[in-house]
Amino acid sequence: MNIQNPSVRPLQKMFDEVPRRYDLMNRLLTFRMDERWRRKAAKLCLKDHPSHIVDICTGTGDLACHLARYNPDGARITALDFSEPMLAEACKKFNRQKLTGVEFLFGDVSELPFESESIDVICIGFGFRNLTFKNIKRDLYLSEIYRVLKQGGKLVIVETSQPKNKMIKSLYHLYLLIFVKYIGGFLSGNKKAYHYLSYSAIHYYTPDELKSLLQNNNFKSLNINNLFFGAATLTLAVK
Ligand SMILES: C[S@@+](CC[C@H](N)C(=O)[O-])C[C@H]1O[C@@H](n2cnc3c(N)ncnc32)[C@H](O)[C@@H]1O
Repeated sequence: MNIQNPSVRPLQKMFDEVPRRYDLMNRLLTFRMDERWRRKAAKLCLKDHPSHIVDICTGTGDLACHLARYNPDGARITALDFSEPMLAEACKKFNRQKLTGVEFLFGDVSELPFESESIDVICIGFGFRNLTFKNIKRDLYLSEIYRVLKQGGKLVIVETSQPKNKMIKSLYHLYLLIFVKYIGGFLSGNKKAYHYLSYSAIHYYTPDELKSLLQNNNFKSLNINNLFFGAATLTLAVK
């Protein structure tokens, strides 16, 4: 697997340096709403009795934790990421919380290690922006996700978005610019990562743009739900 592709390396390196305070920063910057949003996403994934769910860009495994906790039918759960330090943090967390039933895989979304049409659900928590925002591999990532999903399989995305209301959007951008960029950068000790988060979130897709992107990549039955006045969205797309 070529995970050393130069177009990917800067993002990979950035995430390798993030894990120490990653979870703490997420809770702080979203006033703990991020966990509620991931729980909603996990429940959406587990609906309709899937047999295999893959959490791509799993990071420190927060979404995979919710999947493992609420897995009523014993679905197979795989959690994949291309950052070893992030995966190491996820494994530690699983051990600490005595959670089982998740297989962690080191891998790149551009080359998913699964047969075509073999996966029921692919989910992604706050990683879709990384795959699609000004990323030259965007279409490759989307076609790879599409390839491994079964016909009728689901893609569940929880991601930052753009509020429709102009005043809320301005306040949200101000918060991203001051709180996330400067305070997040300072508290996390990783300025570069939080500058990137602030910049990419400010310029990221609106729900309509996200819808077009997914439709242009052959996904259908799109359902996009606003979370916290549209600061984030929970999206369901079907192959
Ligand atoms: C913002 S974090 C999200 C982590 C987690 N899903 C969450 O809900 O907090 C994005 C993660 O995506 C991973 N990532 C980014 N691009 C990737 C790729 N092409 N293949 C695999 N993992 C990738 C990064 O290493 C990082 O751990």
